Amino acid sequence: MFYIGIDLGTSAVKLLLVDEQGSIHNSVTKEYPLLFPQPGWSEQRPEDWWSAVQSGVRELMNGFDAAQVSGIGCGGQMHGLVALDKNDTVIRPAILWNDGRTAEETEWLNTSIGKEKLSALTANIAFAGFTAPKLLWMRENEPERFARIAKIMLPKDYINYRLTGVHCCDYSDASGMLLLDVRHRRWSQEMLDICGVSEAQMPRLFESCEVVGMLRPDIAVSLGLPETVKVVAGAGDNAAAAVGTGTVGDGACNISLGTSGTIFISSDRFGVDPNNALHSFAHANGKFHLMGCMLSAASCNKWLCDEILQTRDYAAEQTGITDDKLGTNRVFFLPYLMGERSPINDTDARGTFVGLTMDTTRSDIVQAVLEGVAFAIRDSFEVAKSLGLNIERSKLCGGGARSPLWQKIIANVLNISLDLPQTEEGPGYGGAMLAMVGCGAYASVEACANALVNTKATVTPDPEIAARYEERYQKFSKIYPAMKKLFKELN
Ligand code: XUL
Repeated sequence: MFYIGIDLGTSAVKLLLVDEQGSIHNSVTKEYPLLFPQPGWSEQRPEDWWSAVQSGVRELMNGFDAAQVSGIGCGGQMHGLVALDKNDTVIRPAILWNDGRTAEETEWLNTSIGKEKLSALTANIAFAGFTAPKLLWMRENEPERFARIAKIMLPKDYINYRLTGVHCCDYSDASGMLLLDVRHRRWSQEMLDICGVSEAQMPRLFESCEVVGMLRPDIAVSLGLPETVKVVAGAGDNAAAAVGTGTVGDGACNISLGTSGTIFISSDRFGVDPNNALHSFAHANGKFHLMGCMLSAASCNKWLCDEILQTRDYAAEQTGITDDKLGTNRVFFLPYLMGERSPINDTDARGTFVGLTMDTTRSDIVQAVLEGVAFAIRDSFEVAKSLGLNIERSKLCGGGARSPLWQKIIANVLNISLDLPQTEEGPGYGGAMLAMVGCGAYASVEACANALVNTKATVTPDPEIAARYEERYQKFSKIYPAMKKLFKELN
């Protein structure tokens, strides 16, 4: 049988056709526009996602037997606010996870409601990208639109709704709304009240591998799939990527280098970082995880290459960066091109090069960008270590993980081994795996991960390079605190 895994990302949707032995038979990527209507704002049209999914599914199935498709599972970009009216029509473009417009609402939640209370209610504090501050922003700035909201959902839930007609959400993704009582896996009535919404406006909650429904008959016809195809609730892209890379046991770690950069630590027990620098969310296997999320990771390198260096050949830019150069670069880069979430929670922070001299080369700049992202991941890694978590190795996935140089830099900056899974298509593969579990092909997410996920290579740190990076990281960690006040002033 076949399963369709969907990764509803920020730059594109990626669809995979996978069988229950884990082989990928076909994959299709469809891009859609990312809108920046004002500096620091970030939006997408849910209808664009849906068009891309529909044409993507048709293309994916070209030449394959549609009767063999059993299930669909989606991993989606988290936190985005999708608001539907009483006719289920989209009210406004979705406000995305990397949108920074809600600085005021975030501040209000963290100070007036208070971090302690937010953490007690939801296990998290407010970050600008989370959904609750977006609701407050909409209530204040677009009251007419806010009054028309009949249903709120997250990006992948909109796809599941279009596929099945069911308003649903899974616990991993719902965790990032700041409306879920993560520990008890139910909506927090107090948080709904604070944001001026009712439970009737919220989607129904499911575990990630639970079947939410079958394809609507008209959609089945238009996609050319059988009506019997089951759609599972799916997961936030990081939890789905964790499933796809086999990051499901207690203490297992996954680093994802996509548009965002995340460090995801799976846990069998509920736990909260006392300073809330790391998010405390539900996992897609019915358990929990801690996560640090930086807003710009592989996107920093994409920005540098596409916009500044005007090249599409990313690999060519990295060829001159040999081992002897690692840990010796005098240029530093703060990767805060969209402000930053974990661990500094600062919408005013900006991308910054420090240490340029007349002999700085193009490749020093490229190296500084790759290193700046690695150092920023280390910031969250340090928070995890301070909680007593002993992370000796991690999986690495996402588009950025394809660069052997970046793999080496991250392994040495964190001084841990990095396991590269056979497929780096984390969220889409994880989505397909959740569908397999939902359709009964595997008894549990763990059983599916044990059977399907393999490591193709391991990158180990080199003691000399790691020591040089240790010294560079200590210097890097002084730059943001020195700039923090200035960033606020400059904005
Ligand atoms: C996680 C987060 C990002 C998005 C990217 O909290 O905001 O990783 O999910 O798609």
